[in-house]
Amino acid sequence: MNLSIVQMNSEHIDDIEKLEKECFSHPWSRNDIAAQLENKNAHFLTAEVDGKVAGYIGIYELYESCEIANLAVTSDMRRKGIACELLKSAVSGAISRGRDFITLEVRESNTPAILLYTKLGFENAGRRKNFYTSPSEDAIIMTKYFKEKA
Ligand code: COA
Repeated sequence: MNLSIVQMNSEHIDDIEKLEKECFSHPWSRNDIAAQLENKNAHFLTAEVDGKVAGYIGIYELYESCEIANLAVTSDMRRKGIACELLKSAVSGAISRGRDFITLEVRESNTPAILLYTKLGFENAGRRKNFYTSPSEDAIIMTKYFKEKA
């Protein structure tokens, strides 16, 4: 598999819009995705396999923290380690920009995503009651510190 992780650019937007619609009940619109290209706090990466969009990750960084906004891999490309590579690249970028920890929310029923984050060292940090709609569901908060807490 010829996998590259690259900065998201305007040529990826059509495919990412399609992927959002496939994966989420409240998908980001084309405008939401395009706006990230202008957002200084946003760091969005695209996974390309043989030049085709296979997944993407978006994180926001502010002061010492960062938050995963989106992560998705096309259904035909799952279980090949692509999300793992996207996350590792996002984390190493955040560390290089001086961030201390990364956090995210995930639907409590989303076992594949929870197992992925756990595999990469994220820990359960709490719950937000009824955070999601369509369907209504709690969010599990997961966090990973890049260095030991004092
Ligand atoms: N069942 C069990 N474990 C899974 C899994 C599944 N369906 N998918 C991923 N994992 C876990 C495993 O531990 C896996 O390691 P292994 O293959 O060595 O067992 C590890 O995650 C890494 O998997 P990887 O191949 O990198 O994940 P992926 O590229 O298939 O992408 C998602 C994982 C969650 C991003 C993908 O399923 C997806 O796009 N889902 C829809 C969108 C979504 O839910 N995004 C997350 C929002 S918080």
